[in-house]
Amino acid sequence: MSSKEYLYSRIRQQFREGLESPEPVDEKTTAHQAIAARYTLNDVVLGASIRRQLEEALAKIKYFQKIYVEWGFASVDPAGKGVVLNFYGPPGTGKTLTAEALAGSLGKPLMFISISDLESKFMGDTSKNIVQVFKTALAEGAVLFFDEADTLLGKRLSSVTQGIDNEVNAMRSTLLIELERHEGVVVFATNFGKNYDAAFVSRISQHIKFELPGAEERRSIWSKMLVAGIPIEASRDELLEALTELSDGFSGREIRSCMRLALPKPLLEQGEPILLLRHLEEAIAQMRTTIVELTAEQRSNGNIKLDAARKMLGVN
Ligand SMILES: Nc1ncnc2c1ncn2[C@@H]1O[C@H](COP(=O)(O)OP(=O)(O)OP(=O)(O)O)[C@@H](O)[C@H]1O
Ligand SMILES: [Mg+2]
Repeated sequence: MSSKEYLYSRIRQQFREGLESPEPVDEKTTAHQAIAARYTLNDVVLGASIRRQLEEALAKIKYFQKIYVEWGFASVDPAGKGVVLNFYGPPGTGKTLTAEALAGSLGKPLMFISISDLESKFMGDTSKNIVQVFKTALAEGAVLFFDEADTLLGKRLSSVTQGIDNEVNAMRSTLLIELERHEGVVVFATNFGKNYDAAFVSRISQHIKFELPGAEERRSIWSKMLVAGIPIEASRDELLEALTELSDGFSGREIRSCMRLALPKPLLEQGEPILLLRHLEEAIAQMRTTIVELTAEQRSNGNIKLDAARKMLGVN
């Protein structure tokens, strides 16, 4: 892949994942650089059970010295220094955000690895480079985040040539070895929890299931999205109550998309721009229509996944 193609793939990737870079991506950005995490777990709205699981994972990392050295657990679990987490669940439920937030809460940078980088960029050199990815992560103390991990850790890759298949298989073996001996934090994310190869499943310390937000979580997500600077007229509590009700079944990403759709609306109207419930209602209705249309599209074309379609259409 040329540096320009790589640049574009990075931009697309960041657009898809909502990981708008704090600095403009320039052509000198090297592959697999660690970025400073911009969030902590306080910025993510999570149900009690997921939060608890993440806190336990954090505690294992923070108290490694106590558990493994002082208490001596290393004598029976010598390879226990690393932590491998698997985030699985529907699109837009905060898996990528939580990976970055976890890094932020640990005070570590994040290294974001996507299968498309590994597949194309390292053609002919994949295994060597996967080793490099782990080495860099260790040197920088970074949390390694593998997105679209079902493709990466699954039994088969959608690839075009035998050469790539071999390449990917070699990479998988290397990945297994690296995971076994890595001393840092690795997070995998996927929409499909069941497609992993058993060898990888057994190396994952915790599988964490992400779900669509319930009413309480939706309220908190709306509240986060309605940042202080946005002029609103109604009482904030009433607004939040209405929005929580209206957005039943929405993911966090869909709530953010509603905000993106709603915010320009008051600016096109006469007078002082104020975000009203009706703007948000309109946006929510637009979002529902989009979801229904994309679901129909998905049914008529089994190859297009709903989330992929949403991303393609920019309603991510
Ligand atoms: N639980 C949440 N708390 C706060 N914000 C959320 C939450 N879930 C989603 N969002 C918002 O939606 C955006 C997209 O979520 P994110 O990219 O983390 O979803 P994902 O689970 O990784 O989706 P995908 O499976 O498509 O990769 C986040 O950056 C955030 O703005
Ligand atoms: Mg994601």
